[in-house]
Amino acid sequence: KQPLILAGKTVTITAGPTREALDPVRFISNHSSGKMGYALANAALQLGAKVNLISGPVSIQPPSNAKLFHVESALEMHQSALKLATESDIFIGCAAVADYRSADLQTQKIKKQGDEMTLTLVKNPDIIADVAGLSHSRPFTVGFAAETQNVADYARKKLINKKLDMICANDVSNQAIGFNSDHNALTVFWSNGQQDLGLHSKEALSLSIMNLISSRLKG
Ligand code: C5P
Repeated sequence: KQPLILAGKTVTITAGPTREALDPVRFISNHSSGKMGYALANAALQLGAKVNLISGPVSIQPPSNAKLFHVESALEMHQSALKLATESDIFIGCAAVADYRSADLQTQKIKKQGDEMTLTLVKNPDIIADVAGLSHSRPFTVGFAAETQNVADYARKKLINKKLDMICANDVSNQAIGFNSDHNALTVFWSNGQQDLGLHSKEALSLSIMNLISSRLKG
């Protein structure tokens, strides 16, 4: 049983992939399992928080006490996130948001073409950067960074560019951990500090992250 250090706090978490439709039957997406975001939701609930979980399409069971918001596309996640962020104390962007979506969504199935075809993509909004950039009722904002090299450098750049309060970085070149795994190895960075949380189950890491957030919130 955990001490209820987040009692009275509202935590909003994005999790899983987004799905960007090309036509009525096809989409672009990624292999995010949603496990890390769902584990964070569980940890926040265990510590006494009220949790909004904004989730892309995943195949895992949501925590029964979280308020679940099902979304598909990045645009849907963006809308849901910005609405919930202003009523949250803490916002954690754990979703693997697709960077691009189709420039023109076809209403009919795209017909087979010649040997080559070109898809035009346009950039999706950066959800967490928009949350962190809120001028009113801005929550304490925590992001994730998956890097294959120079993890600390790139994570610190993202912390600054996206105006985050904290970023959790992992090295995705390590095949043993990350995306679909039940384990992860994370280092957490904030403006004037960092902490290596090591390699643990996503459940254990989530409790460490929520404890760290709670102590930074007070500071
Ligand atoms: O820039 P990059 O995608 O590596 O940043 C990852 C962080 O930004 C994660 O916290 C992710 O949830 C968030 N993100 C977002 N909206 C996007 C892209 C990333 O919220 N369009």
